[in-house]
Amino acid sequence: MSNQSCPSSFDKDKICEVVEGLNIYLANLNILFVKLHNLHWNVVGVGFFDLHTKTQELYEKIAEELDQVAERIKALGFLPLASMQEYLSVATICELPSKAFATPEVPKIIIDDFCCTLNLLRKIDAAAKKASDDCTVGLLTEAMCFLQKNIWMMDAYLSRC
Ligand SMILES: [Fe+2]
Repeated sequence: MSNQSCPSSFDKDKICEVVEGLNIYLANLNILFVKLHNLHWNVVGVGFFDLHTKTQELYEKIAEELDQVAERIKALGFLPLASMQEYLSVATICELPSKAFATPEVPKIIIDDFCCTLNLLRKIDAAAKKASDDCTVGLLTEAMCFLQKNIWMMDAYLSRC
């Protein structure tokens, strides 16, 4: 049995605002996925092994998260963005060129992008609450905890760089 009639119970305008936000979050996640590989491969200096390992942990988590977000958009009856061109045009964070990154730069880059994404999630969370979209609120709550935890960890790591 299809459950596609359930999403239509949401107020259309309110849920459109949620989906628009989720697509921007999806774009940020895809950019982070590529960007964290850049940092994983091209980090240099003292602390290389720490950051090489940590960036892998982060991009693996982000790979799972971006699938969850895209599938939430599908469950709401909408189309997730699925091209790099669209991601780059709507994301609130930017790509990095392929180059070497000194170890102290890496936590700063991650903190900036995670803070920017956290601000985005707060806006989507407010829209999801207005739409009474509990599942999206749950997804975003976990995502905000993940970002806040890693901002703290990167900040603590940076204090020794
Ligand atoms: Fe690797």
